[in-house]
Amino acid sequence: MKLIAQADSSTLVVELSSEQLAVLSNGLLNALELMSDANDMEHDHWFDSEFHARVGCSRQAARSLLNEVQGLPLTAPVSSPNNKRESGAHVSFIGAGPGAPDLITRRGAKRLAEADLILYAGSLVPEAVLEHARPDAEKLNTAGLNLTEQVAVYRRAGREGLKVARVHSGDPAIYGATAEQMRALREMGIDYDVVPGVSSFTASAATLGAELTRPGVTQTIILTRASGRASPVPDAENLASLAAHRASLCVFLGGSQLEANIAELLKHYPPETPAALIQRATQPEERRHAAPLGQLLEGLKLSEWALTTMLLVSPALADPGDMQEVSRLYDPAYAHRFRRAEKGEASEPE
Ligand SMILES: C[S@@+](CC[C@H](N)C(=O)[O-])C[C@H]1O[C@@H](n2cnc3c(N)ncnc32)[C@H](O)[C@@H]1O
Repeated sequence: MKLIAQADSSTLVVELSSEQLAVLSNGLLNALELMSDANDMEHDHWFDSEFHARVGCSRQAARSLLNEVQGLPLTAPVSSPNNKRESGAHVSFIGAGPGAPDLITRRGAKRLAEADLILYAGSLVPEAVLEHARPDAEKLNTAGLNLTEQVAVYRRAGREGLKVARVHSGDPAIYGATAEQMRALREMGIDYDVVPGVSSFTASAATLGAELTRPGVTQTIILTRASGRASPVPDAENLASLAAHRASLCVFLGGSQLEANIAELLKHYPPETPAALIQRATQPEERRHAAPLGQLLEGLKLSEWALTTMLLVSPALADPGDMQEVSRLYDPAYAHRFRRAEKGEASEPE
């Protein structure tokens, strides 16, 4: 397909296959977005000359070509049937776990070791976790980058065919703001996968040496977060309504709102319900504090618990010595597919 685009003194004549057209269209879009003149008249001239130097034509010519390309039956971004861009760029969302470098999965560590470019949330992912990365890998702390800036980095990775490790604390599926990144990657035709990780709520339970599901006490775990300006919790999921279940409850992102959150929880949990704060679980700075919910904050300097703190509330956290009920799973009289009962009780699937 032949394309001719003209503006000012620049003329572009190109003859390209459909695949090439798609790549060109993506490239022009990227270039125009990166060198955007929106609301920036002051730097317009600089953008013009910079664009010309980098892309080899004026911005008007590029826009005109882009319009022409986009008017064709194929429109960018276009990806091949398996959603892989020709450049071979790939992004792995990796759950780093709660912070201890040996709590990342083997798959996560392998992806990190293969990455050319590593994006990590420095406020939550300790640098120690990056010990699995190649020494020459480019490392970018995303703490200071907004989504648009992160997308620009992905776009560059797409152009340069880079393997990217996007490292999230805990498990990426939980409060990772990954959905919007994945959407941008799909739009750019960049392939991605997700490597799960050890979430901080299970790491916190491990720190306490506790099980969150106890037979006859509670068999449900609720994961929620303190409401934030950026991500308000929907009304239907307000803390008091979740507390009404009196199940095991894990509150993420709530270190700076402990008093308000605990007041909500006490609307339904009895004040003697076991509770704990765990800060930076599994990291050298780990701290934990356990007490009945009604007294949890007594004597605490709240400002010290504002960051990277998990609040766990659960009747299951009671001392195991107080247990009235035990699971029948390991009861000698209980049979299932993999174990015979001592006294011949009927099998049940597990
Ligand atoms: C943005 S969320 C990320 C959660 C993460 N995706 C996970 O699965 O653990 C950050 C919150 O997770 C909790 N968190 C993360 N790492 C933690 C740790 N090592 N110890 C205790 N809480 C942690 C804190 O509540 C923190 O405010």
